[in-house]
Amino acid sequence: MSALEAYTPRLHTALTTSSTTGNALRMLLAWAAATAVLAARTLRLSLSLPTINVVRAAPSRNRLPAYLARATAIAAVITQAGIAVTGSVVRVTGSGLGCPTWPRCFPGSLVPQPHPEVATVHQWIEFGNRLLTGLVGLVGLACLVVAVAVRPRRWRLVSLAATMPLGVVVQAVLGGVTVLTGLTWWTVAVHFLVSMVLVWLAVLLVAAFTEGDAPPRWHLPGPLRGLLYTATTVLAALLVAGTLVTSAGPHAGNTATPRLTVSVPALTQLHADLLVGFLGLLVGLGFALRAAGRVPARTWRRYLVLVCVVLAQGTLGVVQYLAGVPEVLVSLHVLGAASVVVVMAALWTSCRVRDDLFAVTVGSARPLASAGTG
Ligand code: HEM
Repeated sequence: MSALEAYTPRLHTALTTSSTTGNALRMLLAWAAATAVLAARTLRLSLSLPTINVVRAAPSRNRLPAYLARATAIAAVITQAGIAVTGSVVRVTGSGLGCPTWPRCFPGSLVPQPHPEVATVHQWIEFGNRLLTGLVGLVGLACLVVAVAVRPRRWRLVSLAATMPLGVVVQAVLGGVTVLTGLTWWTVAVHFLVSMVLVWLAVLLVAAFTEGDAPPRWHLPGPLRGLLYTATTVLAALLVAGTLVTSAGPHAGNTATPRLTVSVPALTQLHADLLVGFLGLLVGLGFALRAAGRVPARTWRRYLVLVCVVLAQGTLGVVQYLAGVPEVLVSLHVLGAASVVVVMAALWTSCRVRDDLFAVTVGSARPLASAGTG
């Protein structure tokens, strides 16, 4: 007598006769056996392979077309960069104290007023820049609304989008501090640098609308990533040095504003040296990317655009310095600085992928480079 017959005589009878119940039971057992084998193999595979085990995102219930979400984020990049340029126009036209109070333009008035000591044109240039802040804020809010509307809810996307309106609030306060401290050089510098951070975050937001939330997997091997981080740090130093040149230079935003008392040629030399360092790192990165091979085409395209923008910006910097910093070139140089930040951030986002997946459940992300898919 078999074990099955001994313990479950009724089941044994059903299985050994050709009744309907017997056939159904045989099919059920076969299905259970197949499932058990599959489960065991899957378990063995998942234990032996250190891959990302993922849960697919729930089907999207978004009502907003993807292109609209992306367009909102691109509008944030343009407005965040644009207000840095219009801010420089305020400075080079000497309109910094066109509205001498904040948040009102004049005591008791939100808008410009005829005034014997403040030229109307300066008032309107400064006031126009304040109005633009409202537009930047609205675009930032739109980004947040769109990000919150995305289903399933994506916290990284929402957090990135939230930095847009929050950044505008921070900038409005910093702008107020700048006016109330009489355009002190370091307040102007901080105001500009925060703008550049917001431009960087806006570019990350554009990418976030089209990528997933899984941890980033880099196309670049570790040492190349190190090169990218170093180049980004040197770019940050280059921007800071630029603001120091401005702080010591003639374009204060108001004739009565005290300047940073450091020699302009010395600061410009430091600024230019950092550019040489930055370019050197970019050239090194280019050769390293070539040597690493299998770099996505869009990373290459962005790398080449970055090199061209940096060369153009460097040339513009030299020309404006030799020409005695004419107003138009100074504002163009600020536009160039924002463009360098945009392309550098775009290059950064193209060097890694975030999978279009909802959650990572088991194991850790393998870098693309080490996975050999770079
Ligand atoms: C990628 C290259 C460069 C970047 C990203 C860059 C960026 C900047 C930035 C952010 C500022 C400050 C803008 C402000 O505070 O409003 C600045 C100012 C300045 N830069 Fe550059 N710069 C670059 C190359 C150069 C070069 C090669 C020179 C010349 C040797 C140069 C000359 C100047 C001068 C003279 C100023 C002061 C303008 C003023 O008086 O407001 N720049 N730069």
